[in-house]
Amino acid sequence: MSRPGPDDGEAPARASSSHRMRIAVIGAGYVGLVQAGGLVRLGHEVRLGERDEARLDALRAGRMPVYEPGLAALISEGRAAGRLSFHASNREAVSGTSVVFIALPTPSGEGGAVDTSILDRAIADVAASLPAGSVLVIKSTVPVGTARRISQIPAIEGRDVRVVSNPEFLREGSAVEDFLNPDRVVIGSTDLQAAELLASGVYGDLPGERLVVDPASSEMIKYAANAYLATRVSFVNSIANLCEEVGADAATVLGGMGRDHRIGSHYLAPGPGYGGSCLPKDTRALRAMAERHGYDFRLLRAVMEVNDEQRRRIVAKVASAAGGTLSGATVGLWGLAFKAGTDDVRESPAADLAGRLTAAGASVRAYDPRAVLSMPGMEMVPDPLAAADGADVLLVATEWRRFRQVDPVEVKEAMRGSVVVDARNLLDAEVVRAAGLSYRGVGTGRA
Ligand SMILES: NC(=O)c1ccc[n+]([C@@H]2O[C@H](COP(=O)([O-])OP(=O)(O)OC[C@H]3O[C@@H](n4cnc5c(N)ncnc54)[C@H](O)[C@@H]3O)[C@@H](O)[C@H]2O)c1
Repeated sequence: MSRPGPDDGEAPARASSSHRMRIAVIGAGYVGLVQAGGLVRLGHEVRLGERDEARLDALRAGRMPVYEPGLAALISEGRAAGRLSFHASNREAVSGTSVVFIALPTPSGEGGAVDTSILDRAIADVAASLPAGSVLVIKSTVPVGTARRISQIPAIEGRDVRVVSNPEFLREGSAVEDFLNPDRVVIGSTDLQAAELLASGVYGDLPGERLVVDPASSEMIKYAANAYLATRVSFVNSIANLCEEVGADAATVLGGMGRDHRIGSHYLAPGPGYGGSCLPKDTRALRAMAERHGYDFRLLRAVMEVNDEQRRRIVAKVASAAGGTLSGATVGLWGLAFKAGTDDVRESPAADLAGRLTAAGASVRAYDPRAVLSMPGMEMVPDPLAAADGADVLLVATEWRRFRQVDPVEVKEAMRGSVVVDARNLLDAEVVRAAGLSYRGVGTGRA
């Protein structure tokens, strides 16, 4: 069953109170908070369960535990309307609800396979408290077969509770916008009534196509999408690296390539490789899943190797800019977040680069507008010029647009050396060179 959503492209209207539902969201992280805030915007009443007391205290005091544009407004809207409550007990959170979203971490476990123990334990804990007739929705990214497996655990089986897969596709940095204007809403269920409750009852006022599929396919769509994006990143980086060798310009090449409508222009920027809390974890999980089923996913292995190689290439560029060795060098680092628009440093390429540089003996002076991180050999400084201060090399590792506003003449004055390695191709090479600095991007030909 597949049902197109409204096609007028307008922001969704608020749900009228006539179809307001009482919904629980378990886990107040990036996904859970956006889900909770988004559901409040749709007119529902949301009960948020979270085990981290400090996080709950922050939320109750009106402070955001994570940075995500537009999220604070949604959460305060819910609190002001009395339609958002916070609970330290998940059992208390699910009380009297008709739909329960699970937005808990599913980290990498042994051999890259997903560790679902947090989710399993939390579900076992709330199972007996789930109201009869309710729907348990798995938003976390989980191995194929999880929704089915959970529907068969003793605490759930035999109860009048349906288990549905509803993978999350938000992008950190534009997560609220992604919730309100999804490309599609994927719902994995064998129970059409439960699927309809989600498609129309919960998400009724959202635009975008509803794709109702079987749970295994729903879970696989999430992995396939992320593995494809990772593949694209590694492919683009490979092309950029080859451009450097043959003397072509990657930006020109990829711009020309993206104008083919079969290819499109998204995810065509060369850089330090993919990172963040999802792509690395999900590619590892898919590879592990393939291995377990005896399928050799060679392409995915190569994608991961290329990603690692990309980090090494950038470190080598910084080393060469520092005169051949990183030992004793000072590197100014612009950016720590895994991408612009977020404070998230989980598997951040920038943080990985910082770790590699310090491991090779460099001192790193890092600035990020939102992210905070501590590691031996790295000092966080309050502004971009302080990061450049006394640096032999300046490395741009996160694509915050505000770095383009920093005057390169002042950067040059602050630095000891004179090379900028731009791992994001963010700065204007001509402007940087005009200030008397050398500029090295990714994919710029030598010839
Ligand atoms: N972050 C993303 O961009 C994104 C996108 C799509 C899918 N996902 C998936 O969504 C899931 C959640 O990701 P996230 O980034 O929101 O994680 P997160 O770490 O930001 O948030 C998880 C939250 O759950 C809380 N928690 C842990 N155990 C708990 C328990 N037993 N009871 C209540 N709360 C508990 C944590 O304290 C934390 O606040 C993962 O499976 C992830 O792969 C994430």
